[in-house]
Amino acid sequence: MKNLKGKTAIVTGSGRKKGIGEAIAKLLAKRGCNVVISDIGTATGKHFSKTHIGTTSEMKSIVTEIKKAKGNAIAIACDVRKSKQIEAMIAKTVKKFGSLDIMVNNAGIGYIMEPFTEFKEKSWDAVIDVNLKGAFLCSQHAARQMTKQGKGGSIINIASQAAKSGFPFAAAYTASKHGMIGLTRSNAVELGKDGIRVNAVCPNHITTGLGHWQNKFFSDKLGLDYETYLQGIVDRNPLGRTGLVEDIAKAVAFLASDEASYITGEAMNVSGGEEYH
Ligand SMILES: NC(=O)c1ccc[n+]([C@@H]2O[C@H](COP(=O)([O-])OP(=O)(O)OC[C@H]3O[C@@H](n4cnc5c(N)ncnc54)[C@H](O)[C@@H]3O)[C@@H](O)[C@H]2O)c1
Repeated sequence: MKNLKGKTAIVTGSGRKKGIGEAIAKLLAKRGCNVVISDIGTATGKHFSKTHIGTTSEMKSIVTEIKKAKGNAIAIACDVRKSKQIEAMIAKTVKKFGSLDIMVNNAGIGYIMEPFTEFKEKSWDAVIDVNLKGAFLCSQHAARQMTKQGKGGSIINIASQAAKSGFPFAAAYTASKHGMIGLTRSNAVELGKDGIRVNAVCPNHITTGLGHWQNKFFSDKLGLDYETYLQGIVDRNPLGRTGLVEDIAKAVAFLASDEASYITGEAMNVSGGEEYH
C-alpha cells in the first residue's frame, strides 16, 4: 500500500493506550502517512469518566513512539462534539502537513449502559453526541477540506457489530452505531462526485480499555465470571478468537488506500465471521 505514503490522516479518539485508534494511527504512520493523534485529552462534561479517555500525556507518548519508529505524527487535543475545535484541528493539520486526505472517525463512548425503561435522556444525548454527532461534524469539516483540495479523500467511520445487531442495555450505543452506517451511506452517495470515498468498519469484541469494561459489564449481568464470558465469545466465533486492534487497523489501511479505490458506502464487518450482514 505504497500509495499511502505522504498522505495525511487524522484519527479521532487515538490517544488512549491499547485502543483501536492508537493501532490505526500507528499502522497508517508505518505505511507512510503523516498522522494526527487526536483525542479529548482531559475529561470534560458529566459523562466523561476519568478512566475512559485518552489523556494528553498518553497522546504525547503515542506520538513519541511513532516518531521513534521513524513515522510522522503530531498530537492535537480535540473534542469531537465541538465544531470550532474540529475546524481548528483541520486547519492546524493542513498548516503542518499540507493537506488532509484521510479522516478516521474512531472517537466513541460505550460505557453508558442502562436498562431501556430507565435509560436517562441525558445518557442518550451523551452517547449520541460523541458517537454520531461527532462523526457528523468531523466528516463535514473533513469533506469541506477535501473538496477544497480537489483530489478526493477517504473518510472511515469506526462503527461496531452494534451497527448491525442489537445489544441489551445499549439503546443509545446501538442506535448511534446504526446511525453511523446511515451517515456513511448518505455521505458516500453525495461525496462520490468529489472523489471522496466514505466507508465504515464494524469491529466486534476487542479487549481495549472500553472492551474490558464492556466484558465486565455483560459478564456481571449474565452472572458469569469474566473468563467464562470471554470463552463463550471465542466459542461462538467462527474463527475461534476475539478481535485484535491490529485487525481493525489493517482494514482501515486498506480502505484508506487506492487498493480500495472502487469501494465506497460499505460497512465492512471485521468480526471473525460472527457478523455477516
Ligand atoms: N473495543 C471494542 O470491542 C469495540 C467494538 C466495536 C466498536 N468499537 C468502537 O471503536 C472505537 C474505539 O473504541 P476502543 O475500544 O478503542 O475504546 P477506547 O475507549 O480505547 O477509545 C475511545 C476513544 O474515544 C475518545 N473520546 C471519547 N469521547 C471523545 C470526544 N468527545 N472527543 C474526542 N475523543 C473522544 C476517548 O478519549 C478514547 O480515547 C469506538 O468508537 C468504539 O465504539 C470498539
